[in-house]
Amino acid sequence: MKLKDKNVLVTGAAGFIGSNLTDKLLEIGAEVIGLDNLFNGRIENLEEALKNKNFQFHKGDIRDINFLLDILKDIDIVFHEAAFTSVPQSVKMPESCNDVNVNGTLNLLNAARKKDVEKIIFASSSSVYGDTPTLPKKEDMPRLPISPYGVSKLACEAYMQAFHQVYGLKTLSLRYFNVFGPRQKDSPYSGVIAIWLGRIINNEDLIIFGDGEQSRDFTYIKDVVQANLMAAEYDVSGEILNVGAGSPITLNDLAKLILNLTDKKNLKLIYTDPRPGDILHSYADISKAKKIIGFQPEYDQEQGLRDYFIWYCKKYNVNLKIN
Ligand SMILES: NC(=O)c1ccc[n+]([C@@H]2O[C@H](COP(=O)([O-])OP(=O)(O)OC[C@H]3O[C@@H](n4cnc5c(N)ncnc54)[C@H](O)[C@@H]3O)[C@@H](O)[C@H]2O)c1
Repeated sequence: MKLKDKNVLVTGAAGFIGSNLTDKLLEIGAEVIGLDNLFNGRIENLEEALKNKNFQFHKGDIRDINFLLDILKDIDIVFHEAAFTSVPQSVKMPESCNDVNVNGTLNLLNAARKKDVEKIIFASSSSVYGDTPTLPKKEDMPRLPISPYGVSKLACEAYMQAFHQVYGLKTLSLRYFNVFGPRQKDSPYSGVIAIWLGRIINNEDLIIFGDGEQSRDFTYIKDVVQANLMAAEYDVSGEILNVGAGSPITLNDLAKLILNLTDKKNLKLIYTDPRPGDILHSYADISKAKKIIGFQPEYDQEQGLRDYFIWYCKKYNVNLKIN
């Protein structure tokens, strides 16, 4: 399916990933409706999109079925990014996490089937794998999530597959691995890169939960957006695909790389207690996404970090030397 001239809904459009995806969809000529309850998203993320005549924003909640039935009237394809996204907050408030992620997603699927939506692409997460020792993570491995957030994403994947089987709705789940880039918030619950960038700008030492030897597959936002477009364009459904950079880095190495890139080798790494619900190691085997939708990440971690930091300094008028 070509996305040009298609009617597209992005849930969570004012968030980090949703707003980047919205901008790209508009750039390639789709008609986009953005939906967000602004719980965590920011309208300023849609500053550019709101200037485009092919974009409309609706403030609302995915748990409101009547709102969804109205919005989905003429929609061909849905990119479902809206979620309760914080792992530590999900440990504190599992019911709220379940309500937004599971009930909200089920609502969206029901509304989509009633309104004859063609396809839904769901933002799942590497957290569904939990702390199983086998690396890299492959889609058919056992899934043993250790946080309520991970459990909720796993339940949504199962709903995506069930709606494909039972109602013939085309669905696809993309398991994102630690996404970073422009518009990521530097709040206590967002990705470590955004938090560290905020600290570097203030000349503050970097804080690491645990011993820093935990590894992650940090994936640049532009590659995640690209994976979504491919997932929509290829005639494939009922599948679950890993979307990652496919190259792990420990937090200690990441911190050194960032301090080098920003010329802040004087800053120290401060180690503190590990956080409950955090997994130790995670990186993606991306061969299935390569085979099924032709996904190939274009950014390695260093290129992604440089692109992100340059964007940040320009946007917020920050004077930081980027090596
Ligand atoms: N950022 C990552 O590293 C990462 C990794 C794996 C999966 N994901 C998934 O990708 C998606 C996007 O994540 P993000 O990093 O952009 O997070 P984000 O918090 O920036 O975006 C989520 C958006 O959903 C909105 N939202 C929350 N509850 C809502 C509701 N009930 N109704 C309508 N809107 C609601 C928020 O206001 C926010 O704008 C999420 O589903 C997340 O779970 C993200």
